[in-house]
Amino acid sequence: MSNIGSYEKRRENFSWDIAKEVLGWKEGEILNIGAMCSDRICAQGKGDKKALIWQGFGGRQKTYTFNDLRVLSNGYAGFLQNLGVDPGDKVCLFMDKIPELYISFLGVLKMGAVAQPLFSAFGDESLEVRLFSADTRVIFTTRKHVKKVRKIQDRLPALEKIVVVEGNPDKLKEGEIFFRVEEFPVEDFNVYESGPETPSVLHYTSGTTGQPKGAQHAHASVWGQALTSSWVLDLKDDDVYWCTADPGWVTGTSYGIIGPWSLGVTQCVLDSGFTSAAWYRFIQDNKVTVWYSAPTAIRSLMRDGEELVKQYDLSSLRHLASVGEPLNAEAVIWSEKVYGLPFLDTFWQTETGSMMITNFPGMKIKPGSMGKPFPGIVAGILDLKTHEPVTEPGTVGLIAFRPGWPSMFREYVKKPEIYRSKFVGAADDAQPAELRVDESLWYVSGDRASFDKDGYYWFVGRDDDVINTGGHLVGPFEIESALVEHEAIAEAAAIGKPDEVNMEVVKVFITLNPGYEPSDDLELNIMNFIRKRLSPLAMPQEIEYSKKLPKTRSGKILRRYLKALEWGEEVGDLSTLEDD
Ligand code: WT7
Repeated sequence: MSNIGSYEKRRENFSWDIAKEVLGWKEGEILNIGAMCSDRICAQGKGDKKALIWQGFGGRQKTYTFNDLRVLSNGYAGFLQNLGVDPGDKVCLFMDKIPELYISFLGVLKMGAVAQPLFSAFGDESLEVRLFSADTRVIFTTRKHVKKVRKIQDRLPALEKIVVVEGNPDKLKEGEIFFRVEEFPVEDFNVYESGPETPSVLHYTSGTTGQPKGAQHAHASVWGQALTSSWVLDLKDDDVYWCTADPGWVTGTSYGIIGPWSLGVTQCVLDSGFTSAAWYRFIQDNKVTVWYSAPTAIRSLMRDGEELVKQYDLSSLRHLASVGEPLNAEAVIWSEKVYGLPFLDTFWQTETGSMMITNFPGMKIKPGSMGKPFPGIVAGILDLKTHEPVTEPGTVGLIAFRPGWPSMFREYVKKPEIYRSKFVGAADDAQPAELRVDESLWYVSGDRASFDKDGYYWFVGRDDDVINTGGHLVGPFEIESALVEHEAIAEAAAIGKPDEVNMEVVKVFITLNPGYEPSDDLELNIMNFIRKRLSPLAMPQEIEYSKKLPKTRSGKILRRYLKALEWGEEVGDLSTLEDD
């Protein structure tokens, strides 16, 4: 029997109070994600239960119980307090998927600070804009990544402390702190008295224009994350759950930390490079039961074929789900054939904090569809021009949600106008109501879709120029800004180009400064320049040289025109392309 039971019944009788009940939380109590995921589970008598089974390169393995999570996260919380960190301060977590990342995340939240995890493959420039924007006060990192922080620390006036949390203290620079939590477990820690609206996790997400925006979440998000983990991922007490996402991105925190641990579920983490064989072995060795992954990974597994699957015992698997990009029908059908289980598609965003439109256990699956709105979520498709909800099945419009779900982002850090611009339907100064469905507003997701006559949603594409490569959003503006810092480049435009496995990869168009000529060396140099400054995801896979880039009358590069040409789409009227 699945946790959700009947989708229709759950929709009819829905209230977020169900989530509070599932978590055993009562009105007026402290609501703190860090404590919810460790102290509370121990208080239920599950202190000795395995919380984290971690595996690194070369098969190195470490295991932590919920009691370990409790005393070690207390250790981080106490350490931060002693450092003078105040509730509400931003503490960045910049490291690979090591146990320290998962446990310090809880510790930061326990003492009331905001956890700001950043993808460890980020280069110094990607790191700098995000730390600068957030006024981050402390960064937790490792020997491997501290160099990138050193390079930019002079340009970050708010950054007071660099803390290395792993390895040994040799060769640290003056002022850098070494802290190994194992040496300082704390039995009792007074958890910060946070409430539902206290800021919790901060994730940066890329848009079409400007630098990435910091989507700030609040502790109430755990209601949404726990209930979706229960009803969509179907997590149960005896599951061994594997979320393949990195906590540098929202999937890796909402469903790679908060969802499963708030329910007291054992999860495993694999911190080594991707190969299909390594993944299958990991499932086999740990007897993974529930697996949450992404379409790009699934397509890579498909490529390596069915024969490989047969070499492993994957019979422990009982439920699979996917997020991040459109999950093509072939991938759903293939997974059903080779694993005996279809991957269930789930749709959501950094801003939504938890799953919004999903396929549920027990529901009829239409391969290629994202499924139906989660109970308690009011979804709609808005007309592309008027922003009125469409009623006719099959009409393509903007995916939108009535605000007021618990894990909705509460602001874009220091960007109130952009935050407000994501909501339509009411007076300009209207702010979304907290935790009740606000019938006067729509939160507009920035994606296009339609629904069919049975209420299933079908993804069409993004409504902007953001590039989705392997389930990760990359902002074209960030790439273009970095490109024009290269000595050879005068002007640049970045777009996504179709790719069989990653859905999209980055392609750039550039014009060269006088004195520079196209060459293989230059190309390699530009690719590395972007990889190092931004990240491997942002690195262009193709560079096209132009004498001149197409521009609007006001001089803005017509990225959309280049994209339409690349995708073989109708270019249309150039004046409409100029609007955005
Ligand atoms: C964007 C959000 C929250 C998950 C990780 C990404 C795209 C997400 C799907 C899906 C088609 C999807 C959308 C969305 N996306 N899930 N099931 N089908 N597209 O979070 O980085 O904020 O990206 O990813 O374009 O807006 P994110």
